[in-house]
Amino acid sequence: MLTAARVAAPLSLRDVRAGYGRIEVLHGIDVEVRRGEVTTLLGPNGAGKTTTLGVMSGLITPSSGCRHVQGRHVNGADAAALARIGVCHVREGRSVFPNLTVADNLVVASSSGASLDRLTEVAFTLFPRLKERRTQLAGTLSGGEKQMLALARGLGTDPSVLLVDELSMGLAPLVVAELYEAVAAVAQQGVGVVVVEQFATIGLRVASRAYVMAHGQVIYAGSSADAEDAVHTAYLGSAAS
Ligand SMILES: Nc1ncnc2c1ncn2[C@@H]1O[C@H](COP(=O)(O)OP(=O)(O)O)[C@@H](O)[C@H]1O
Ligand SMILES: [Mg+2]
Repeated sequence: MLTAARVAAPLSLRDVRAGYGRIEVLHGIDVEVRRGEVTTLLGPNGAGKTTTLGVMSGLITPSSGCRHVQGRHVNGADAAALARIGVCHVREGRSVFPNLTVADNLVVASSSGASLDRLTEVAFTLFPRLKERRTQLAGTLSGGEKQMLALARGLGTDPSVLLVDELSMGLAPLVVAELYEAVAAVAQQGVGVVVVEQFATIGLRVASRAYVMAHGQVIYAGSSADAEDAVHTAYLGSAAS
């Protein structure tokens, strides 16, 4: 029991302030990613969600506070260093190489050190649709399939933390449900998953925990089941301002 209690969260931010140049965007936020759980991070446009993921993945350095990965203080680490210790960031916009086939996109992803066999196995088990389309140019995939490929590319590296920005943006509900199923399956294997959403509260059904952000602050942290009120407050506040 003691050991379990001592196992560090795969990633946490404590009282983190960060921004761009002199502009502070995050005004002291606490977020904890837990192993084996989906955590959803919600909030209106401009709330600071993407900036938070950037801090988590090392694209942005905290100006104060602590960034911990597996219990280690890693404020100074850059994105490449955090990727090597298992932090995977699937950035907004489904980044895939449009002129390469699905299979070749996986080959490129494996060039960062992941085994191609492992990457292919993970991708095609989680998303059989990608297997069917392995010779198709990624640029001609549907939005949902591109998102699957973007996720698969990240997962092949066996991350301990998976950060996904705007998972469902612009996608049809059925595809979104399929993507969330995959994300939940990944979490069940022990990965700490964070999914950022601007509009979709579908994440609340899959996630155990939710954070709601507004104006660079966390206005709710807790069970996803009780997050709805905070979500409304955040969106109403942003509409009024
Ligand atoms: N590269 C940047 N340079 C300066 N300000 C930025 C940059 N990216 C985002 N911001 C600002 O930071 C705030 C939060 O943005 P962001 O984290 O992208 O919010 P969200 O993802 O919740 O929509 C916004 O006010 C935005 O204008
Ligand atoms: Mg964003």
